[in-house]
Parts: sequence; structure tokens; C-alpha cells
Amino acid sequence: MKILGIESSCDETAAAVVEDGRIILSNIVSTQIEKHKIFGGVVPEIASRLHAESITFVVREALEKADCTLSDIDAIAVTYAPGLIGALLVGVNFAKGLSFSSGIPLVPVHHLRSHIAANYITHSDLKPPFLCLVVSGGNTLLVNVEDYTKFNVIGRTRDDAAGEALDKAARTMGLPYPGGVNLDKEARGGDINAYTFPKPRVDDNPLDFSFSGLKTSVINTIHNAKQKGGEISVKDLGASFLNAVVSSLESHTEKAIVQQNSKTLVLAGGVSANSMLRQRMTELAEKHNVKIYFPELSLCGDNAAMVAAQGYYEFMTGKRADMSLNAAATMPITEQM
Ligand code: KG4
Repeated sequence: MKILGIESSCDETAAAVVEDGRIILSNIVSTQIEKHKIFGGVVPEIASRLHAESITFVVREALEKADCTLSDIDAIAVTYAPGLIGALLVGVNFAKGLSFSSGIPLVPVHHLRSHIAANYITHSDLKPPFLCLVVSGGNTLLVNVEDYTKFNVIGRTRDDAAGEALDKAARTMGLPYPGGVNLDKEARGGDINAYTFPKPRVDDNPLDFSFSGLKTSVINTIHNAKQKGGEISVKDLGASFLNAVVSSLESHTEKAIVQQNSKTLVLAGGVSANSMLRQRMTELAEKHNVKIYFPELSLCGDNAAMVAAQGYYEFMTGKRADMSLNAAATMPITEQM
């Protein structure tokens, strides 16, 4: 079964054809990074316009690379939530038009579900149930993936996402957008104990995260140093800050593994590309004798292969959308229209 995936939730316009939820036939990503770089972050209005400019080309290329025409496609899977509303609308409306004109069924896909599904492409043996840490630019979640389309959230961020905190910290350190990636590179070999940060704590659920205090703390550290005319070592500050963020993700994941008696741990989302996080989670998994899976690096960021992969499983459970499908900026992973 061939699924055409379409993704436009943030700053990548993407389309892909995936067979049976696992095998990539094509995976086209048109990134807008260079266009947003001069602003230091994604400008939503510009993102929407650029998606509108490139989506037809990207979808056509995905079909061509897969050696397919629309008549070979069994379903069109599209990211409809969560994300930048104007950006999402471009993909959703394009997919609706394509579905209406071709008669191919339309399948709505939740963005974070698709980040998790990136792992099904990378690891042919991976099947639910498993514990998943989803760390992206807009979300940080600990989820029990009970089945391909059944999710139970056991921990979530109360304020900023880990990726958001990394991006803001990187920007304040003067690193170019996209911050998290550049912080990863810059911090390698830095001293994780050079700077100290508060340990975030959330009172009523020990599995919930908080990153806003850490974010404020790193910004204050930089501003205080500047005001006093002092020097900041971006390498050491980056390493210390990354260590603080990773330690929080690690300690919560460890609590979840013990509490849920998890046997398999999966990482998903853009931040799962981070080298320090991968190393520490691998050590954690070894300590608890848990199997660990990460998406391959090329599938950690936004792409449409993961949308098609999750779309396949949604389609198999009978999920369909009609022409009333709308985009939504926010949507819990447990909800699906
Ligand atoms: O999952 P994603 O591509 O977009 C959302 O769906 O939100 O995640 C983007 C986030 C950004 O915050 C970016 O800085 C971060 O993932 N990121 C990284 C790395 N690569 C991407 N953070 C740390 N280290 C990386 N290597």
C-alpha cells in the first residue's frame, strides 16, 4: 500500500511516498532555513508564503522520484495539527484539493504521532507498546505508545519545550538559527560543569517537565556577564546548558521507565538528533536493560516520510477526513479528528 505524505507544519515543505508504513520510495524536503536565518527564527507569514510557492513542485517531485502517478497512491496523509496555523493550512488545503480531484482518501495526521512513526521507518522490528520521549521544537512529552494509534501521555512540559529553550539559549549566545543544531556542534567538548543551572521541578507530577526557568537562567547568565564586561565561553556555557536540559529529560525518563516497567524506549522529534541526549539515553537504557531506538538523523527533523508512515497506520484503522478538515495550531496527541 502506497501513501503520499504531505508536511508543512513549520519551516519545511515536504512530500514523500512510503510503502506499507515502513519503506521510503521518495522523501523530498524543501527547507526554508536560509530564508528565516536573517530573522533569527521562523517568521510565520513568510513560512506560509514559501510553502504555497513550493508545495506543488515538492509533491510532484515526490511522485516522480517514487516512480508513481496519483493512480498508484492509496491514500493522502497530511499533517493537520499542531503547528503554525498558516503553514499547516497550505498543506491541508493542497491535500484536500488533491483528494477531491482524484478521489483518493484523505487521512489527517497529528504531527507528533508522525515524529514517533519516523522510528518505524528506521527500525523494521519496532512495534508498540513502548515508552516514547518526544522532544521537538514545540513539545516535550513522555508517552506510552500502546498501539500505532493509541497514546497515553504520562508527562508533558508545563511551559517551554526543550527545543524552544535550546533555540532561545543558542540565539542569546549569538549562534545562528537553527539554534539547537548549532548549539549541539558548538558545545561538543565543552565543560558541562563550567556553569550551574537550577534543577527544574514540577510539584504535582514528577514526570512533567519545565524548561522556562532554565531558559531564563541562561539568558540572565549571558546578560549579567555582558553588563559586567565579562567573557562568556559559548562552548562551556552551551555544554553546561545542554547538560541541564538533557539531565532533566534523562531523570524524568528514568522515573518513567521504573514507574511503567518499560522494556523499550523510543526517542522522537528534532531534539532526538542531539548527540549528548543520544549518548545519555543510550547509557540510561543500558543501565535499566531497556532496548532503545532513535530515528535516523535525516528523519529526526520535519519530513513527510514520517507523515506517510503514521498515515498508513491511521488509514488501516479506518481514519478518513472529508472536505471539512481544518488545521489546528494546538492539539493533544491523544486527540485525532
Ligand atoms: O521536531 P522538530 O523538527 O520540529 C517540531 O516539530 O517542533 O524540532 C525542531 C527542534 C528545534 O528546536 C531544533 O533546534 C531542535 O529540534 N534540534 C536540535 C538538534 N537538531 C534539531 N536540538 C539539539 N540538537 C540537535 N542536534
